[in-house]
Amino acid sequence: MVRYEGAEDYLPRDRTVTALREASADCRGCDLFADATQTVFGEGTDRARLVLVGEMPGDREDREGRPFVGPSGGLLDRALTDAGIDRDTVYVTNAVKHFRFTQEEKGKRRIHKKPSRSQVVACKPWLLAELDAIRPDVVGLLGATAAQSLFGTDFRVSARRGEVLELPGLDDPPLAVATVHPSAVLRVPDADRDRAYTEFVDDLRVVSAAL
Ligand code: URA
Ligand code: SF4
Repeated sequence: MVRYEGAEDYLPRDRTVTALREASADCRGCDLFADATQTVFGEGTDRARLVLVGEMPGDREDREGRPFVGPSGGLLDRALTDAGIDRDTVYVTNAVKHFRFTQEEKGKRRIHKKPSRSQVVACKPWLLAELDAIRPDVVGLLGATAAQSLFGTDFRVSARRGEVLELPGLDDPPLAVATVHPSAVLRVPDADRDRAYTEFVDDLRVVSAAL
């Protein structure tokens, strides 16, 4: 496994969300900063009782500099509404803050590539610092990358989704609920997508009830 220096040295002394966001713009803790447009840090109120963690920014997020503004974000917004969660009270972020992609040639479509374990580990200090600054009551983990960043690589979303867990490794640990990533719901074939969506909303209702 490639070992990156990691984000730790780029964290500012002042640990407010605003200070973290500013400092994250200059992070070079792994190789992903090199090809991406910009760091996409978390967004939302720093008094959020709920933090949602995705995988990493996609193509749209990379261009706009904001998390969950593309197709996954659209589905997430709809599911939050259906689960009775007000998006304005939520802080949304990702396990990895730079977009990883492959591209056959310059100008061609950029295709999402899953971040490596070492990149997830390298970026984890930002996520932990966000959680420490916000101290939410509940953390919603969207997909395996987010869940495994915080629970370790043995964690299986398929086995544990919708359970109320306690997050390890933090003072005053928040509750955590893992579920699938919204992009996984979008990829389900037409015939089964409604069911997958309903199951996703059901997990978000568990989140809502845990609040
Ligand atoms: N997928 C994610 O995991 N995060 C985003 O911000 C967008 C898509
Ligand atoms: Fe830093 Fe994370 Fe970007 Fe890597 S992905 S450069 S650790 S912010």
